[in-house]
Amino acid sequence: MAIFGKDESGAAAQLDKERLPRHVAIIMDGNGRWAKKRGMPRTFGHKAGVEALREIIRHSDELGIEALTIYAFSCENWKRSAEEVGALMGLLLEYFTRELTELHRKNVRIRILGDIDGMPAGLEKQQQALHAAVERTAQNTGLKLNIALNYGGQQEIVRAAKNLAQKVVSGEIGADQIDAHMFEGELYTAGLPEVDLLIRTSGEMRLSNFLLYQLAYAEFYVTDTLWPDFGRDAYDEALLAYAKRNRRFGGV
Ligand code: IPE
Ligand code: IPE
Ligand code: MG
Repeated sequence: MAIFGKDESGAAAQLDKERLPRHVAIIMDGNGRWAKKRGMPRTFGHKAGVEALREIIRHSDELGIEALTIYAFSCENWKRSAEEVGALMGLLLEYFTRELTELHRKNVRIRILGDIDGMPAGLEKQQQALHAAVERTAQNTGLKLNIALNYGGQQEIVRAAKNLAQKVVSGEIGADQIDAHMFEGELYTAGLPEVDLLIRTSGEMRLSNFLLYQLAYAEFYVTDTLWPDFGRDAYDEALLAYAKRNRRFGGV
């Protein structure tokens, strides 16, 4: 059954609620190129990217998608110029200051995937805002919004291995008890449904250290659309493409 009324057209009209992914992950890429095409500084693209993000969160909520995980800043993104990193961190703080009340009102539960406390000095306000957002929304039961920030998939896996090693050393568990389920419990995504759909904008065919463990059987959708141009229609297209996929999980 289509979710929308008869005035919806295109992909939206064909979306079948039964075939929506439970968990969507997005690599929001292409802000810099979007700005460059307009002869503007990269930070202009990041500002536009925040608007796109707001729209995609809203639409995920309306569609009833259970979990949305977005890649906001990787462990490797610290390599960028101080100016760009500063602008991104400024936008982050502004976003949480401005949007938290609204997200909370919509019953959104915010989680941060990544090493918040390992952020460089000078970002204490950001760290506080992130912790506050997680705490304030911890009991919410609506959209599970996971923001990957100072995140790296390899770092996450190493951290999980370390946590388990410590539990073995302390005698809490035996090494032979470790299985996939226990390992998953040590990842930032513990308790979330498995990722069904990974979207990457701007055409790059790589994972860039995102959710290396969790994407085992995710469907990939790459679009040339740059992130600031990725709106509801583009999102519906991706969801429709997903609905048409034949997932086999190693079977036939
Ligand atoms: C994605 O856009 C935003 C972040 C990585 C924070 P980019 O800034 O990577 O934009 P491009 O890939 O250079 O166009
Ligand atoms: C991945 O994009 C990180 C985020 C979207 C936050 P990048 O732009 O950093 O990835 P690479 O450098 O093109 O692999
Ligand atoms: Mg990029």
